Amino acid sequence: MTIAVIGTGAMGSGLARLLAAKGIDVAIGHRDPARAAALAEEIGPRATGGGSEAAAKLADTVILAVPFAGVAEALKGLGDLSGKIVVDISNPISPDFKSLTIGHTTSAAEEIQKLVPAAKVVKAWNTIFAQLLPSEARQGRSAPVQVFIAGDDSAAKKKVSELVTATGFEPVESGALVNSRYLEPVGEINIHLGFFLGWGTLAAPAWVKS
Ligand SMILES: NC(=O)c1ccc[n+]([C@@H]2O[C@H](COP(=O)([O-])OP(=O)(O)OC[C@H]3O[C@@H](n4cnc5c(N)ncnc54)[C@H](OP(=O)(O)O)[C@@H]3O)[C@@H](O)[C@H]2O)c1
Repeated sequence: MTIAVIGTGAMGSGLARLLAAKGIDVAIGHRDPARAAALAEEIGPRATGGGSEAAAKLADTVILAVPFAGVAEALKGLGDLSGKIVVDISNPISPDFKSLTIGHTTSAAEEIQKLVPAAKVVKAWNTIFAQLLPSEARQGRSAPVQVFIAGDDSAAKKKVSELVTATGFEPVESGALVNSRYLEPVGEINIHLGFFLGWGTLAAPAWVKS
């Protein structure tokens, strides 16, 4: 199993490192193939890196680790994604990080699904700061950090949930893709708590049953 990670920034590099550390092969893609190749080299033998289309071709699951504002452009460089799982980790945030640019009647995930109708979009990881991706950053907690999963294809959600579990997080089944309208605001309040209200970037939401 190879997972493609598109983007080499905070989330892309963090997820690629984490997946590789858990023994999962990653194909890293970037609009500058040399940047992806350099990151793969640094990560080691579980990682390969190059152009975005080449990376996506190697995988059935493609994690988009680019800003929502750049997603449409990034998708154009990924070739045919029909039948593939596309994991949307984005929060459609304003340049000052203080608000969402879309919501209520749609979400980043739904907009991405419209752009790639033949792919299976699954929302995940949008409420996790990049700083929480390394396993060491999550050690010593009383419970695993939760990752909320939304999507319309149950097999795709199952596969992403398995990935989430394999990386040491707890997947929380959060319903249909339309529920991303509610998960993205959770990502935004987490940014407020973490960045603007002093909690720091190890903060994460935890939903409790009782
Ligand atoms: N950072 C977090 O803690 C966090 C937490 C949860 C969710 N997220 C979400 O994760 C996604 C990535 O965030 P990040 O913090 O990793 O961002 P980042 O550090 O800025 O990295 C973004 C990556 O996307 C690439 N990129 C930007 N515009 C692109 C375009 N038009 N086409 C192709 N590639 C493009 C960038 O390449 P260049 O370097 O060439 O620009 C870079 O490799 C965002 O959607 C964000 O909302 C972030």
